Amino acid sequence: MSVLFLKRFLSRPRQVASIIPSSKALVRKVIGKMDFAQPRVIAEFGPGEGCHTREMVRLMHPDSHLLLFELDRELASHLQRDFHAESRVTVLNTDAAALPQALAERGLKHCDYIVSGIPFSLLEPEKKRGLLRTVFDSLAPHDDAAFIIYQITNELRDRGHCAHFPRAESEYCLANIPPNFVTKFFKTANGHARNGKH
Ligand SMILES: C[S@@+](CC[C@H](N)C(=O)[O-])C[C@H]1O[C@@H](n2cnc3c(N)ncnc32)[C@H](O)[C@@H]1O
Repeated sequence: MSVLFLKRFLSRPRQVASIIPSSKALVRKVIGKMDFAQPRVIAEFGPGEGCHTREMVRLMHPDSHLLLFELDRELASHLQRDFHAESRVTVLNTDAAALPQALAERGLKHCDYIVSGIPFSLLEPEKKRGLLRTVFDSLAPHDDAAFIIYQITNELRDRGHCAHFPRAESEYCLANIPPNFVTKFFKTANGHARNGKH
């Protein structure tokens, strides 16, 4: 178990929202929804201590970019240390809402994937609406592009918060504490489903 993660939860429970990092089974389900065969621009919201990040880095094409948005300073410093030798990874100790500026500053037009572990259900309605609009607008207009989120509830889908995405698919991961829904919101109506193993 990550002691750092537990410490950060105890310090900011509503922001970190989980006492332990995601399980290997959950990471596998999330990562299995992405195709790494080509160069990708990926944004990760709330990487925590980096359990999903490590898998993406392992699988990513050499010309990919991975932008990490981690609000917690100590977790961001930990990521900075872990990935300092990895030129494809940028650690940003900032709110996920800064995604458009982060892309523009790097001359990147869009993301192919946005992966999120942040507790959307605890965000103020206005902030949640704004961030979900930013996510949609930041995704590239092609059939692979998707927003992939893992959460205790499936409220983004069930309550219609992501109704601006034309298609979604969900599955449940019991092998995590607590169990999580994994939902993939596709940018296009013909978005490619992928539940692969890497
Ligand atoms: C439930 S933890 C997930 C951590 C990790 N991804 C995992 O799967 O174990 C949520 C993480 O999101 C971060 N976070 C919460 N709100 C955020 C925001 N608005 N922008 C960036 N990071 C945020 C927290 O600091 C925490 O590290």
